[in-house]
Amino acid sequence: MTSGVKGRVATRKIDPHPADVITTWASRIAVVVLFIYTCLYLDRIKDRWYVLDPTHLHELAQAAIASSPNDTSGMIDHIVSNLTAEYSSSTIALNTNTKEWVFNNAGGAMGAMYIIHASITEYLIIFGTPLGTEGHTGLHTADDYFNILVGEQWAFSPGQLEMERYPAGSVHVLPRGTAKQYKMHEGCFALEYARGWIPLMLPFGFADTITSTLDLPGLYQTIVVTGREMLRNLFIGKI
Ligand SMILES: *[C@@H]1O[C@H](CO)[C@@H](O)[C@H](O)[C@H]1NC(C)=O
Ligand SMILES: *[C@@H]1O[C@H](CO)[C@@H](O)[C@H](O)[C@H]1NC(C)=O
Repeated sequence: MTSGVKGRVATRKIDPHPADVITTWASRIAVVVLFIYTCLYLDRIKDRWYVLDPTHLHELAQAAIASSPNDTSGMIDHIVSNLTAEYSSSTIALNTNTKEWVFNNAGGAMGAMYIIHASITEYLIIFGTPLGTEGHTGLHTADDYFNILVGEQWAFSPGQLEMERYPAGSVHVLPRGTAKQYKMHEGCFALEYARGWIPLMLPFGFADTITSTLDLPGLYQTIVVTGREMLRNLFIGKI
């Protein structure tokens, strides 16, 4: 027994052959380089998985406002029925349950969202609050198109001394890798479309809940709905 333990310790102390060390490190570096090149390649071709179109969504947001003035719920119905008419269920999976809202705390701002569509490369949500909120947009791996339906969004970047104003009917475009401070001034709701790498945005979406609100049932529901919609899209071959 004792000698067995000693034997094992002694075996572990034997230095590996220098050639083995080089082989081990060379293969680790090769895996990392391959991984980086795969990511760069996927990033270059990600456009081929996009289904939705920012220009169409902006026109749709404006049409929704025009068809249902002062009626946020009517605007949302207009948007969802347009999308279900426009796209077949084999092109894109859409969540048509307009009552499925969850709290969203992120970057210090708070509101609620209804997830219309979520995949690996795109999401489309209604986000807003009748109370107003303010925070950091987050620094994301996706381009973001924030179509204001109701109210006004204000924004600014460091160095700007005047704010940007986005009234209902306008779109605030935030290219990936850029961040701003924003405010949903008083009551404000928007149709938000993001395209890029969505899973990498999720830590930002969960951080405030994990470190502050501890609204675990809300977090659970958000993960269930997001996961369900991503899987529904994966099943129809939509990444
Ligand atoms: C959807 O909305 C767009 C933009 O308003 C419009 O051009 C298109 O005709 C609508 N499609 C349907 C099926 O209603
Ligand atoms: C919408 O609300 C505004 C402000 O309350 C009011 O002036 C306007 O007439 C309303 N428009 C419609 C179509 O109800």
